[in-house]
Amino acid sequence: MQAATRLIMALRGPALVCLMAAAWPAHTAPFFPKGDAAKGQLLHQKNCASCHNSMMPDGKGEELYSEDFRKVKSAAVLRTMVEACANRSSAGWFEEEIEHTSRFLNDRFYQFKR
Ligand code: HEC
Repeated sequence: MQAATRLIMALRGPALVCLMAAAWPAHTAPFFPKGDAAKGQLLHQKNCASCHNSMMPDGKGEELYSEDFRKVKSAAVLRTMVEACANRSSAGWFEEEIEHTSRFLNDRFYQFKR
C-alpha cells in the first residue's frame, strides 16, 4: 500500500506535466484558425483603415484597437464588430473575409486567448 502511494506520488508530477502539455495547444491555438492574417491585413487596408483613420485626431485609426481605446474585450465580440463594421462599410464581405480580418486584428492587436 505504501509502495503504491509512493509510486503515485512519484508519478503525479510528471503526469501533471503531461496533462498540461496535452492541454497546452488548446490554449495557444490561434483564434479564427480558418483566417489568413496576411489576407486580413490587405482586406483591412482596403476596406476599413481609411474610415478609422478619419476618426482619430492624429489619423492613426489603429489606435482604436489599442488597450486604451478598445471597447472589444473578447474574440467573440471582435468577430461581431468586424462583421458589423463590414456591413456598415458595405464591403459585401462573406464569412471568409470576416475570418481573415478577425485573425489579422487578433494576431496583431487584440491577442485574445479566449
Ligand atoms: C464608415 C466608417 C467605418 C468603416 C468603413 C469601418 N469602421 Fe470599424 N468602426 C467604426 C466606428 C465609428 C467604430 C467605433 C464604434 C463604437 O465605438 O461603438 C468602429 C469600431 C471598430 C472596431 C472595434 C474597436 C474597439 O475595440 O473598440 C473594430 C474591430 C472595427 N471597427 C473593425 C472594422 C473593420 C474590420 C472594418 C472593415 C470591414 C471597419 N471597421 C470599417 C467605423 C467604421
